[in-house]
Amino acid sequence: MRVVGQETAVREMSIVLSKKLGRLSAGNVLMVGSSGSGKTTLMRAVEDYLAETTSTEERPILVRLHANVLAEDAIGGRPGQTVLWRLLEAARELRGPQVPVTDLLRQIEEGLVFVDEVDKIRGRIEGIPQIAGIRAQEALLTLIENERTAIELPEWAGGGRAMLDTARLLFVCAGAFEGLYDAVHDRVTIGEDRGALREVAVVDGDDIRQEAHFRLHEWLRQQDLFDYGMTPQFLSRFESIILLEPLSVDELVKIFLSRPEIGLEQARAYFAQHGINLAVSPAAVRRIAKVAAEQPRVGARALSEVFRRVMRTYEFEPDRWATDDGTLVIDQAEIDKALE
Ligand SMILES: Nc1ncnc2c1ncn2[C@@H]1O[C@H](COP(=O)(O)OP(=O)(O)OP(=O)(O)O)[C@@H](O)[C@H]1O
Ligand SMILES: [Mg+2]
Repeated sequence: MRVVGQETAVREMSIVLSKKLGRLSAGNVLMVGSSGSGKTTLMRAVEDYLAETTSTEERPILVRLHANVLAEDAIGGRPGQTVLWRLLEAARELRGPQVPVTDLLRQIEEGLVFVDEVDKIRGRIEGIPQIAGIRAQEALLTLIENERTAIELPEWAGGGRAMLDTARLLFVCAGAFEGLYDAVHDRVTIGEDRGALREVAVVDGDDIRQEAHFRLHEWLRQQDLFDYGMTPQFLSRFESIILLEPLSVDELVKIFLSRPEIGLEQARAYFAQHGINLAVSPAAVRRIAKVAAEQPRVGARALSEVFRRVMRTYEFEPDRWATDDGTLVIDQAEIDKALE
């Protein structure tokens, strides 16, 4: 799997998937984790995993959509329809146009729906009701609960309406819930539960300091998510709420070296075009990961940003920087100089 770290989330997702594949009932999952911690990456990894390990006949139909789509639908007076349309399209794509629509409809009743950026359908922001968000949550709830939901069939499926039992659909929702961390931290330090977060002695060499270690998963309650704007009815439909952890420097190193979208491969290709072999030393990679880890709230995305900042210096007139044998070595010193 291409997800680095996040063991709890990966494990939980594997369990849910194996239940789904074994046709057992599986509870809906809500993932909460700061931006760039791997939520969308995990969803994509599940899609790839299913594509690689299951035959098209037994693969559950899966769609991934942005929560805003639910809000648009709800406002447009067709709550939940896009989810069903996407499922139906995905089923046709997977099984082929010759498969009868009734078969496709039966198959999507067992489908998987990934709703990304679910924190964008808050029902309340700072006490002010958000109609679109409330409606979107209600629409999702209807799909989760209803044994009979109408789908308006698209033209290719013959038009008209059909009834679907959506009660067995599996929902995996994810969101960064920006501001939730601070809200819970405030609650246990200066708010209603002040004093709850105790300081512990930390030994650092000869030094002993008192520090309060706040970890969201130790303190998050359902109430915090209600306060954030997710309705109790909505939340009660999730069997597990999984928190993704902030990525450690070691994990960021791994991501930097293994994920092509971060930019190392592209940079190598760029220099190779100029006949230069780009080499980034392990110490330099660590340095990049450390700097990235210090950036708040962007997670692994900071890796690309930091690396880009470093490479900018060298990408212009690359020949200037390479040794005679055509190698450009980026070591810790080069990183520090570029980031000055
Ligand atoms: N745990 C991880 N394992 C591997 N790559 C990761 C991980 N977390 C983040 N990344 C990298 O960082 C990029 C952003 O991660 P991702 O899109 O999964 O974040 P996210 O949690 O969905 O954030 P957001 O809330 O902003 O959507 C990915 O393209 C991937 O390269
Ligand atoms: Mg994401």
